[in-house]
Amino acid sequence: MIVPKPVKQEPRPGAFVLDERTSLTADPLLSEVAAWLRGELAPVAGGELLPGTGTEPLPVTGAEPLPGRGSGTITLRLGDLPPEAYRLTVGQDAEIVAGGPAGAFHGAQTLRQLLPPAAFRKAPAGRLTVAGTYVEDAPRFPWRGCVLDVARHFLTKHEVLRFIDLMALHKLNVLHFHLTDDQGWRVEIRRHPRLTEVGAWRRESQTGWNGAMDGRPHGGYYTQDDLREIVAYAARRQIMVVPEIDLPGHTQAAIAAYPELGNLDTPLEVRTTWGVGVNVLNVEDTTLKFFEDVLDEVLELFPSPYIVLGGDEVRKDQWRASPSAQRRIAELGLRDEEELQSWFIRRFGGYLAARGRRLVGWDEILEGGLAPGAVVASWRGELGAVAAARRGHDVINCSNTSLYLDYRQDPGEQEPVPFGTVLTVEDVYAFEPIPAELRGDPAAARVLGAQCGVWTELIDSGRRVDYMAFPRLAAFAETVWSPAGRDLPGFRERLAAHLRRLDAIGVEYRRADGPLPWQTRPGVPGRPETPERWQAKLDAWTSNLR
Ligand code: ACM
Repeated sequence: MIVPKPVKQEPRPGAFVLDERTSLTADPLLSEVAAWLRGELAPVAGGELLPGTGTEPLPVTGAEPLPGRGSGTITLRLGDLPPEAYRLTVGQDAEIVAGGPAGAFHGAQTLRQLLPPAAFRKAPAGRLTVAGTYVEDAPRFPWRGCVLDVARHFLTKHEVLRFIDLMALHKLNVLHFHLTDDQGWRVEIRRHPRLTEVGAWRRESQTGWNGAMDGRPHGGYYTQDDLREIVAYAARRQIMVVPEIDLPGHTQAAIAAYPELGNLDTPLEVRTTWGVGVNVLNVEDTTLKFFEDVLDEVLELFPSPYIVLGGDEVRKDQWRASPSAQRRIAELGLRDEEELQSWFIRRFGGYLAARGRRLVGWDEILEGGLAPGAVVASWRGELGAVAAARRGHDVINCSNTSLYLDYRQDPGEQEPVPFGTVLTVEDVYAFEPIPAELRGDPAAARVLGAQCGVWTELIDSGRRVDYMAFPRLAAFAETVWSPAGRDLPGFRERLAAHLRRLDAIGVEYRRADGPLPWQTRPGVPGRPETPERWQAKLDAWTSNLR
């Protein structure tokens, strides 16, 4: 009952018991994974999972326990496998053979899931038994991500760390950290302190699509020390944190902090409402330099080879009206504002490439052409993914028709967040990362994987993140980790077992029978989209990609 479903699992004789006498021995190259696993299991086992004495040979799986020794030994070893692959054998002892630390970590997560749900608590739980089994496993896709939007609503550092633990439990390995937007700037930049002094705070927030405002200030940001901690914490859990600095749209918070970045003479405030904004960066040299400074600090903080520069939903009204933008268009011999955006993104893509990093952008960056090497995060349905792969770009499928976890989970009136589109856990489970149009096409190899999205306009707390992300994130994990093909009844059974683990952790997921009374938000009606309206939206968005 492992989630995501492993490639292969078979019963084996024997049983492993985790108790205060269990020991843990690891290859020195897997010592960080061993330290992490000790940290997870020691509080439950009631012992410290010390290594074997060192004078004994490594225990052989299936051997009788030595007299007086713990009930069993967990061994982590390297073997000749791909880096993320592992084999787990559970009998009297538990042995994980892995291609590298990532594989050992995923194997250790599987071992935790094989234990009873009490293994996910933080206090001794008596003797915990695992029936003998053999698991052979490796991921289907190398990029298994989740967008976490901390700009629309801030999540505390502790909430982010907890979310990283939950991603790791589901064998996801990329946190796409959406750190900046119109409604908040969340990353401390030493050279430009007003980005957080001003840009991290807003006067109030829109509580729903019905337009009501809550009259309550909101904000927060991560210091550079916080971000280094988040990156290191994630790395130890085999998760790469890929930061997003969204440019040149979605920048009203930055413009509120430094009005000279914008196109207007009048000051702006950090945005309090949702939707695509009109305020975008100007294209002055000073603005380009400002964001080079920002990127220099971002590159110091985030070692990831990938940096997301957004590029989505850039309204061109202000550039049309701006003499300086028009001058730039003329100087560069560009046709129009669309080409200006393309130039803007290419320029920063070049800045990243010169520093050994790859630009990732939302699929709008395809419009007007894109430097080779740039990675496309395709979000408006799947057309962007198809177009990008066929043009030779690596692609991450982030389809908003299947993977946006801010959509309501049921058509019922009681759902707490009235985003119209319905996306059930079954809908997410049905998602296939390779777009239908690419099946059988060699360009399909360009699809690195997929990302679900925790967009937080209407997700205003960590508790609400739990409700919206789970259990759909578990379904998503199967689509990117497990072998192709779907088995909904099988998934439902696995999920039922998995929910007991989430209960033990204390995740406030959406229950199949609907929200608990305190999870609803009375007085804010839903606004379901019709399939026709939804299709019309998609057609309009993607007509320029065909
Ligand atoms: C997006 O949802 N604008 C990527």
